[in-house]
Amino acid sequence: MSPRAAVLAGLGSWLPPRVVTNEELSRELDTTDAWITSRTGIRRRHVAEPGTATSGLAVEAGLRALKSAGVPDVDAVVLATTTPDRPCPATAPAVAAELGLGTVPAFDVGAVCTGFLYALAAGSGLLAAECADSVLVIGADTFSGILDPADRSTRAIFGDGAGAVVLRAGDSTEPGALGPLLLGSDGTGEDLITVRSGGSRAPVRAVTAGEADPYFRMAGRTVFRAAVERMADAATEVARRAGWSARGIDRIVAHQANLRILHATADRMRLPRSRFPVHLDAVGNTAAASVPLALAHAAGTGELLPGHRTVLTAFGGGLTWGACALRWPAVTPL
Ligand code: UT7
Repeated sequence: MSPRAAVLAGLGSWLPPRVVTNEELSRELDTTDAWITSRTGIRRRHVAEPGTATSGLAVEAGLRALKSAGVPDVDAVVLATTTPDRPCPATAPAVAAELGLGTVPAFDVGAVCTGFLYALAAGSGLLAAECADSVLVIGADTFSGILDPADRSTRAIFGDGAGAVVLRAGDSTEPGALGPLLLGSDGTGEDLITVRSGGSRAPVRAVTAGEADPYFRMAGRTVFRAAVERMADAATEVARRAGWSARGIDRIVAHQANLRILHATADRMRLPRSRFPVHLDAVGNTAAASVPLALAHAAGTGELLPGHRTVLTAFGGGLTWGACALRWPAVTPL
């Protein structure tokens, strides 16, 4: 018996209304619009108001994905996030309850900026195992809450947001069927993208005693090189497994970390840079929300069209990376 494929049937996104421009950041930090624009391509980002938690963004994106799919509910919720509402419990059950989904299975996936790819794999697994006939897969993050207010290298980059898709059980030949999905990790790089304390290694009491660093940290330059190599190689490999040449990929919707990373990834794959939709100029790096937000933007502008041979790829903390191939389906992003 061939396993049931996961078919992308709806797409939704949500950004908190407050916009912070480079200009506004440069009034607070030792940075300039020129530096941020030239080194990253980012011009502005959305930031959640104090009191808005990740679940709030996830619910808004989830509602829109359900509406886009034309369904009132789903059988399960998988939420990719690095900024859950609380360290315990997971945030997905609260999101499911807020969406009125009753007692469906709901859990979080933590793979930082690769989280959405990992969550797609988890959602596909629920469908293949016949645990569910439909799954809401959400990527949502509120990095503004974990950034060091004085760290210009992270404050310039990250923004808040959420994106979501509805997956339904279907046939692998349908448009929207998630094709080959590749995931990887290298835990020897755990220090490169990290929040060092608040977990079991350096518990909260060390933070309150002033002995530990509670903020998100990233070794930007090292991560930059790894992101290019891993995303380019993962994207090339899933295309090969899908039976496409790298040149045959119409659109690569990649994690939106830095415009120079997108360009370098295109160059490594020897593909025109125009095949990589860009959304980071308007939202920055939104971590687990990055890929679904970029999908919604590209599908909304017509840059991504039904039938396009599409590859999603991401890289993030862990270190983790992943890629997934699919023929873009006729969905209307909301
Ligand atoms: O989402 C997960 C994956 N994340 C990524 O893939 C991010 C990858 N990394 C990057 O995007 C880039 O490395 C950054 C945008 C984070 C940094 O750009 P860079 O060109 O690699 O700069 P750098 O970290 O090597 O820093 C160069 C200089 C430093 O000054 P010194 O030490 O040379 O005096 C930084 O302090 O740029 C300085 N700098 C800034 N200057 C003005 C760093 N951030 C800023 C800033 N404004 N916002």
